[in-house]
Amino acid sequence: MKQFISVKDVANINSIVEKALAYKANPLVDKALGADKRIGLLFLNPSLRTRLSTQVAAKNLGMEAIVFNVDKEGWALEFEEGAIMSGNTVEHIKDAAPVMGEYFDMLAIRTFPGLQNREDDYSEMYISQFIKYAGVPVVSLESATLHPLQSLTDVITIQEDLINSQRSTVKSRPKVVLTWAPHVKALPQCVANSFAEWMTAWGEVDFVITHPEDYELAEKFTVGATITHNQDEALKDADYVYIKNWSTYNDYGKVYENDPKWMMTNEKLALTNNAKVMHCLPVRRNVELSDEILDGPNSLVTLEASNRVWAAQAVLSEVLKSL
Ligand code: CP
Repeated sequence: MKQFISVKDVANINSIVEKALAYKANPLVDKALGADKRIGLLFLNPSLRTRLSTQVAAKNLGMEAIVFNVDKEGWALEFEEGAIMSGNTVEHIKDAAPVMGEYFDMLAIRTFPGLQNREDDYSEMYISQFIKYAGVPVVSLESATLHPLQSLTDVITIQEDLINSQRSTVKSRPKVVLTWAPHVKALPQCVANSFAEWMTAWGEVDFVITHPEDYELAEKFTVGATITHNQDEALKDADYVYIKNWSTYNDYGKVYENDPKWMMTNEKLALTNNAKVMHCLPVRRNVELSDEILDGPNSLVTLEASNRVWAAQAVLSEVLKSL
């Protein structure tokens, strides 16, 4: 694997899920694979899970991980080709990325969207510029439009739950529902885009997306999904419910709706097939998801967050093998 930016970089989803679950069973089996190798973890935005799980994963593979909080500690980077740098940016990515490529065997990068200009965000300029100039493999730690490590984790978590829980009522093709949830601020579409892309590419579930009117996601990520504005209808007989807020895509980056009736509660859970509930975290309690769900027996959120290690380890091991 030369890069990990989206599901398209994965040759076989089931194989990488199997690999991740094998690492979970035996974390140090490949502890020699990353010997004398170094990964740079570059954060242009905050993180808890992505940062720590990727560090743990690198350590399990015997690789050194160095974290660089670019937004707080680095020079302000310029990404525009041909920019006249007379403003606030200090160093061009054309100069910074090759230097970091010299220090590290691979780079992993988190770059959120600005949510001001859809064309800019959906061109994925930041991560593309790193790929263009770093000269080493690049792993996305969440980009402007996608969060593939999270989505791989989500597939792993569903697969693990299917294997372990042996719920006799789960259908041979489980029903997975991605439901929009309220939030107090405009959030990126990354997690929802990515989850939709991975669910449809995985192809082993019946996948439904439900959201209020005007919250359509970019069609290129949702082809193959059933989409409805009726949340109750969507939740009917669901085996897994994935909760996530996102801001509007068409009238880009806006909050049109904040109706608490979209929040997942035990009353809504009763519509499902005793569904397991997922969220990538961080979560706004009693805004996106009720306490009763998060603290209840159907919540998979902690398992999901813990599985970030095995997703990262599976991806990093594939990249290491390509060096
Ligand atoms: N889910 C996730 O990416 O968490 P962090 O933002 O804390 O890394």
